[in-house]
Amino acid sequence: MTGTVLVTYGTTNGSTEQIAETIADVLRKDGLTVEALPAQSVTSVASYDAVVVGGGLYAGRWQKHARRFLRRHHHDLAERPLWLFSSGPLDASASEKDIPPVPGVKKAMVALDAREHVTFGGCLEEGAKGWVARMILRNGKGGDFRDFTAIETWAAHVADELAHT
Ligand SMILES: Cc1cc2nc3c(=O)[nH]c(=O)nc-3n(C[C@H](O)[C@H](O)[C@H](O)COP(=O)(O)O)c2cc1C
Repeated sequence: MTGTVLVTYGTTNGSTEQIAETIADVLRKDGLTVEALPAQSVTSVASYDAVVVGGGLYAGRWQKHARRFLRRHHHDLAERPLWLFSSGPLDASASEKDIPPVPGVKKAMVALDAREHVTFGGCLEEGAKGWVARMILRNGKGGDFRDFTAIETWAAHVADELAHT
């Protein structure tokens, strides 16, 4: 594929953005033209030839900007190669096994005929927004569970698929 890839994300505390930037870097190194943007800043996907969308998980759903992005661009996304990723679990589970998409994301996958979905570990550190976040941190359940090797491996696989698109 020779066109432009959009890597977009819904984040509240910034960790999903870093995952998206890592994915974008891998795709660029593979020779693709890539834009990495927050989901709420994308007004149209018409100029992109493929899209990767990620959302941080909050109470069993994608972060709101990622959800709204799928709704707003439903029609154009359904016509493009599409990959989805979630970022959430605050333990090693995402590195140990495949974690299926949450129901809302599963539904979108089917409706949009997405190529694939993957769940990466999440990250919650001091300074995170909201009282629930502060409570989790106070209980010692925070930390950074993102596996950047796994993220890069997945991105390389997406690049490989795009090469054959
Ligand atoms: C209020 C709150 C609710 C959360 N709910 C979930 C959840 O349902 N499932 C999950 O796997 N992780 C959950 N997490 C962990 C977040 O998904 C994780 O911190 C993620 O990396 C956040 O992404 P962001 O930094 O891009 O906003 C929750 C975290 C908070 C603070």
